[in-house]
Amino acid sequence: MKAEMKRLFDPRAVAVIGASTNPAKIGFRVVENIVSGGYGGGIYPINPRGGEILGLPVHSSLESIDGEIDLGIVSVPASGVLSVVEACAEKGIGHLVVLTSGFSEVGKIDEERRVVDAAAAKGMRILGPNVFGIYSAASSLDATFGPGGIMAGRVAIVTQSGALGIAMIGKTASEALGLSALVSVGNKSDIDESDLLEYLVSDDRTAVVLLYIEGVKGGERLVETLSRVTRRKPVVVIKSGRSKRGAMAAASHTGSLAGADAVFDDLMRQCGVLRAKSVQEAFDWVRYLAFAPRPTGGDAVIVTNGGGIGVLATDACEEYGVELYDDQCALQDAFADVMPAFGSSKNPVDLTGQATAEDYASSLDAVLRDDRMHAAIALYCETAMADSARFERLLRDVYGRYRDVKPIVFSLFGGESIAKTIRTLRSEGIPVFGDVYAAVSPLGALYNAWRHVKVNHEEEAAVQIDVEAVRAILRSAGAEGRGFLLAHEAAQVAEVLGLRMPTSRIARSLEDALDAADGVGYPVVMKVVSKDIIHKSDAGGVALDLDDESEVVDAYQAILRNCRAYKRNAVIEGVEIAEMIRPGVETIVGARRDPSFGPVAMFGLGGIYVEVMKDVSFRAAPVGPMTANEMIASIRSYPLLLGVRGESRKDTEAVAKVIVKLSHLVAECREITDIEINPLVVYDQEEGVRAVDVRILFETPKGVKAT
Ligand code: ACO
Repeated sequence: MKAEMKRLFDPRAVAVIGASTNPAKIGFRVVENIVSGGYGGGIYPINPRGGEILGLPVHSSLESIDGEIDLGIVSVPASGVLSVVEACAEKGIGHLVVLTSGFSEVGKIDEERRVVDAAAAKGMRILGPNVFGIYSAASSLDATFGPGGIMAGRVAIVTQSGALGIAMIGKTASEALGLSALVSVGNKSDIDESDLLEYLVSDDRTAVVLLYIEGVKGGERLVETLSRVTRRKPVVVIKSGRSKRGAMAAASHTGSLAGADAVFDDLMRQCGVLRAKSVQEAFDWVRYLAFAPRPTGGDAVIVTNGGGIGVLATDACEEYGVELYDDQCALQDAFADVMPAFGSSKNPVDLTGQATAEDYASSLDAVLRDDRMHAAIALYCETAMADSARFERLLRDVYGRYRDVKPIVFSLFGGESIAKTIRTLRSEGIPVFGDVYAAVSPLGALYNAWRHVKVNHEEEAAVQIDVEAVRAILRSAGAEGRGFLLAHEAAQVAEVLGLRMPTSRIARSLEDALDAADGVGYPVVMKVVSKDIIHKSDAGGVALDLDDESEVVDAYQAILRNCRAYKRNAVIEGVEIAEMIRPGVETIVGARRDPSFGPVAMFGLGGIYVEVMKDVSFRAAPVGPMTANEMIASIRSYPLLLGVRGESRKDTEAVAKVIVKLSHLVAECREITDIEINPLVVYDQEEGVRAVDVRILFETPKGVKAT
């Protein structure tokens, strides 16, 4: 039986193995923090020397302790960790936090594996190694070697970066940000973000979770867990390491189209996770999300005494996804009694610089008590019209009355007295900012989280694909030692998926060619078939859009002539006659097994849009039609599919169906590492799509990967 996660956060007794009397050592700091943090359970420092630390008796070994221990903190050098872990497992400890560095992060993967195996053998869970510890408000436990003095609150932080995590303790203190938990996950040898999220989602103290991620392990489970958690609590993520290495490692064209970071970004959005660009932005978001009430609607109103910052805030609303209320009659009606004669009730509502503090407060009041308006963005430029102390009192009063009713953010701009007001109000937990964008950004995060919860997540039933038929095709290719399918094999897979590939035949004489063209149906395409000629177009070995017999005759002769001239000794096996696919918008639909996240579907427009603009979208597979349509709509070049310059709208529904099928195939048939239809030509609405080329890479049962 694996120990339940609750015991990690709310242990009845804690042992510190490697506790030290030396205040310079980590083994001392941890005991000191546990004691000064106010932990109420049993504390057992362990050190062979015995003695006393901060008045607590030091035990020479675990065996000498009678009671049960839920949590062990290990602070002994790497060479001693395995034997300590074995002793802890023997003692029946539920969870072990291994602070020690010097494992997989420096390449000692086997050593780390042995530690995890020794623990798992007795059902003990490992947090770390290479962590700074854990703080849990549930038990007032500060088992970290951080600076101490953590304030209890509603935000849980899970961090992979140790140094940044420790620094966050100080930052939370200076920002008056209370924590429900702070967990360092380090090497994630056993316990990872998903395990912790499972606990945090049902922890009543936690209102919002902040994840700092450097690299993803077990991404498929993380996506599944996050999708569930975000429906109950907002999750904010900061991810460093926007590196291209992941993309380079990916085998397929689709894989290299965008870096691993683009996949992470899209998948987080799919899960409803809010991705912050910086630590400061993440802090601003979680602080706001921890206390702001859920919006009751999407219509926000800006109240300002300066036209300029009103416009800036309008821009910021567009950037962060905050919608502005624009029912002019309702606005006029709401502000009729409070708007000074010189003001404008258009949103942004501009009271102008002549407004007094009282004008300002009553206008805010008008927004906040009106059911048609759902959030207030209050902007203020310092003027001689309002005394700052009085202004501060009015803001405090307005916020106090509506803080649990409607989302409100404030942005104040001015000199030293305004800076002081900002500091004072912020220290009281009032969402006041010195910049318009900084104020709108957390409101945007709140709205994004809210929209995700509101969306209907139900997707249609799974698609039926004859996966066994696909496997049979892979098996026969694998038997030849190949990890990729030849064109005709890929076409067979396409057929299983219900996709029609261009029909084609190989002709070995002119008569044959004419016969084949008749069979395929005009117009046709002709291509030389020769393993000696790789670049067919360069050799003059391709002819397009041939409408009748005479064009086929001319093209056949020209192709042979050109190719012989291009390469004298080339062995020409024949000429392929294929159906000419009529032009449309070229797209790429793909799906692959991502090294971090497992099955992932991909969509983009063909040509430069994908190659140069990296305009692609990813989602964790399988996806249903709703998500597939969302993928299509989320690329920047989407308007081209809606029809530009008088063209009609393209058949995006047909594209969505292909995305759904490919995504189900990679999710069900795990041997496939990459499948890509490039191009998938899209026609006008109701006219469907045509797959021109399909590429499939797979892993053979022996693990032979595609070359
Ligand atoms: N059982 C009990 N006590 C033991 C055992 C044992 N098996 N073995 C050693 N000890 C005692 C030692 O005698 C010592 O006590 P003492 O001070 O009375 O002599 C104490 O445990 C600590 O052992 P030291 O050999 O003194 O080791 P030290 O404290 O210098 O280092 C540590 C241990 C901190 C675990 C170190 O090896 C390490 O990994 N440091 C890095 C920690 C880190 O940075 N983690 C990542 C955090 S995140 C970030 O990046 C900030």
